[in-house]
Amino acid sequence: MKKVAVVFKSKYGSSEKYAKWIAEDAGAEVFKAGEIKVDKLEEYDTIVYCGGLYAGGILGFSLIKKNYDKLHDKKLIVVAVGATLKTGEAIEEVKAQNLTDEMKDRVQFFLLRGGLNYKKMNFIDRLLMFLLVKSVKLRKTEKLDEDSKALIATYGKVIDFTNRDAIAPIIHAINS
Ligand SMILES: Cc1cc2nc3c(=O)[nH]c(=O)nc-3n(C[C@H](O)[C@H](O)[C@H](O)COP(=O)(O)O)c2cc1C
Repeated sequence: MKKVAVVFKSKYGSSEKYAKWIAEDAGAEVFKAGEIKVDKLEEYDTIVYCGGLYAGGILGFSLIKKNYDKLHDKKLIVVAVGATLKTGEAIEEVKAQNLTDEMKDRVQFFLLRGGLNYKKMNFIDRLLMFLLVKSVKLRKTEKLDEDSKALIATYGKVIDFTNRDAIAPIIHAINS
């Protein structure tokens, strides 16, 4: 049996929920990014890193990036959890921002939809979202993409797009 570790970093719970679903379906152990050392990760054959997307960056992903020389022979699966509706295009943008060229060839990458919870959001995140929505609203309506329209429509609300079925390709990647 291959040993699988799922490591996550989550601010508002979406990535944690996905990490736990993945671990359950894959029979894996699950760890918080801040609570596991790379020496421990070296014991696993497959590592799934699951983190929330903030301004295009995957939360806590430096753990993997900084230690890639020790982990590059493992099966590495990266799961970014964001609010974006974009698929192919967004995946390429997130990969470009987060993965090194070496990683791009070796890592399997997935983008899942999380949510936005203005009730739980801390002051800084709420302020950033306010400024973002304000700047988006200044643009002409016909120039807004789907993400921008959704951002305005959901501003201040609690929305949750997490979906257990969405992990199926990740479970497939772990098992194949
Ligand atoms: C300040 C801020 C910045 C964000 N930036 C992005 C982003 O660049 N791309 C995206 O798809 N989602 C973005 N989001 C949405 C989060 O990725 C989404 O809420 C996700 O579910 C967070 O996962 P977590 O709860 O596990 O931290 C942002 C949210 C906040 C509050």
